[in-house]
Amino acid sequence: MSTHNRQLRVGMVGYAFMGAAHSQAWRTVNRVYDLPARVRMSTICGRDPGKVADAADRLGWDSWTTDWRALVTSDEIDVVDICTPGDSHAEIALAALAAGKHVICEKPLANTVAEAREMAAAAATARTTGVRSMCGFNYRRVPAVTLMRQLVEAGRLGVIRHVRAAYLQDWIVDPQFPLVWRLQKDKAGSGALGDIGAHIIDLTQYVTGQRIGGVSAITETFVKQRPLPAGSSGLAAQVDGHGSVDGHGSVDGHGPATGPVTVDDAAVFVARLDGGALATYEASRFATGRKNALRVEINGSLGSVVFDLERLNELEFHDATLPAGEQGFTRILVTEPEHPYLSAWWPPGHIIGYEHSFTHQMRDFVEAVATGADPTPSFEEALQVQLVLDAVTRSAERSSSWTEVASTPAPVPA
Ligand SMILES: NC(=O)c1ccc[n+]([C@@H]2O[C@H](COP(=O)([O-])OP(=O)(O)OC[C@H]3O[C@@H](n4cnc5c(N)ncnc54)[C@H](O)[C@@H]3O)[C@@H](O)[C@H]2O)c1
Repeated sequence: MSTHNRQLRVGMVGYAFMGAAHSQAWRTVNRVYDLPARVRMSTICGRDPGKVADAADRLGWDSWTTDWRALVTSDEIDVVDICTPGDSHAEIALAALAAGKHVICEKPLANTVAEAREMAAAAATARTTGVRSMCGFNYRRVPAVTLMRQLVEAGRLGVIRHVRAAYLQDWIVDPQFPLVWRLQKDKAGSGALGDIGAHIIDLTQYVTGQRIGGVSAITETFVKQRPLPAGSSGLAAQVDGHGSVDGHGSVDGHGPATGPVTVDDAAVFVARLDGGALATYEASRFATGRKNALRVEINGSLGSVVFDLERLNELEFHDATLPAGEQGFTRILVTEPEHPYLSAWWPPGHIIGYEHSFTHQMRDFVEAVATGADPTPSFEEALQVQLVLDAVTRSAERSSSWTEVASTPAPVPA
C-alpha cells in the first residue's frame, strides 16, 4: 500500500543537460518506487524567460522563474536541486540551506576547496535542524556499481590491492571546438579532472570504502586557445541568452575570435588509498573514439571486479576462491530483482540505462528526506572529493611531487 501522504515540492535551478536528466528522474521516481513522499515538480529556474518557460513546459514543471533567490526562499519549495555549472553551486546551496531547504547539488560540489568547506559546514549546521543535503555522484546508483560495493563489503574480494579507473571522452579533440564554460576555470573550476575525474574518485572510494590519502599527478592542456562560441543546439546544449553556451558536444558554430583554455584537457595520477591499495586514475577529453567511457577494475586477494559504463547492466566478477579449474571472469547480468534498485523495474534481462541512475539517486534522496535520514554522498563526502581534486592540481603544478590529501572535518551527527 502506498503512503504518499507527504509532498516534497522541488525547485530546480538549471534546465540543460543535468536539468533534463534530473527532470526525467523527478518525473519517474514515484511511478517506479513506492516512497514515503510524493515529489511535485514545482518550479524550474533559469536566466532567460523564454527558454526557461519552454523548458518548464517540455520537462514537466508546474511553473518557472528567472530568480533563483526567490526560488530558494519560497514557502512553496521544500527541495532545491542545483543543476548549474560549478561557479554558482556554493551561492545557491548556501542560500537554500540557510532558508531551510533540503538541497541536492550536482558534482563537483564546488569550484574550490574553500567553497566546498563552506558548503559542508553549512550542511552540517542545517542537519542539526533536520535539513538534508546530498551531492549528485549518480554513478554510485548504477546497480552494477552498487553491487560491486556490496561484494567488497561482504569480503568477497578480500584485501583490496589495486584500483584501476579511467573516465574517457573525446568531445574536444577538434581544436576548432569552441570555448564553452567547461573549458573556463572561473566557470568550471577545473577541466576533465573535476568534470569526469571527480566521478571516478567518488566511485572508487565508495566501492572500496577506502579514501585516497596522497597522489602524484600530471595534467595537460593540449589545445590552449579556442574559438569563442556563437551558438548551440540540442537537448544538452542551449544558449541561455546570457552569452554562455551550455552543455558540451553539440555546439553549432563559433565566431572568429579566440580565447584561452584555462583548464586541463586531461589528468592522470597515481594514488595510495588509506586501506593500502595502489590506484591509477585517468580522466581525459582527448581519448579519440571514447565518448563516455568509464571503466573501473578492482583487484583483491580473493577476487576482482570490472565495471564498464558502456555495458552498465553487467559486472564482471572473478572469484579466486573457486577451484582453479572453475575460475575466470563471470559476466553477471545485473537485472535480477535481488540486485540493487532493480526490483521496481522490468523483468530480469530487460536492461536499464544511463538515466536510471538519476531515478535511483532521487529515490534515495526522497526516502532519506522523508524518513529523517541523511542521504549520501553528503556534502562532507563531496568536500573530500574536492580535496582530492585539489591535491591532484597541486601535485601537477609541482612536477608531480607526492601530495597528501588534506583531511576533512568529522561530520556533525544528525
Ligand atoms: N552527474 C553527472 O553525470 C553530470 C553530468 C553532466 C554534468 N554534471 C554537472 O551538472 C552541472 C551542470 O552541468 P550541465 O552539463 O547540466 O550544464 P549545462 O551547461 O548543460 O546546463 C547548465 C544550466 O545552468 C544554467 N545556469 C548557468 N549559470 C546559471 C546561473 N548563474 N543561474 C541560473 N542558471 C544558470 C544554464 O542556463 C543551464 O540551464 C555541473 O556541475 C556539471 O559538472 C553532472
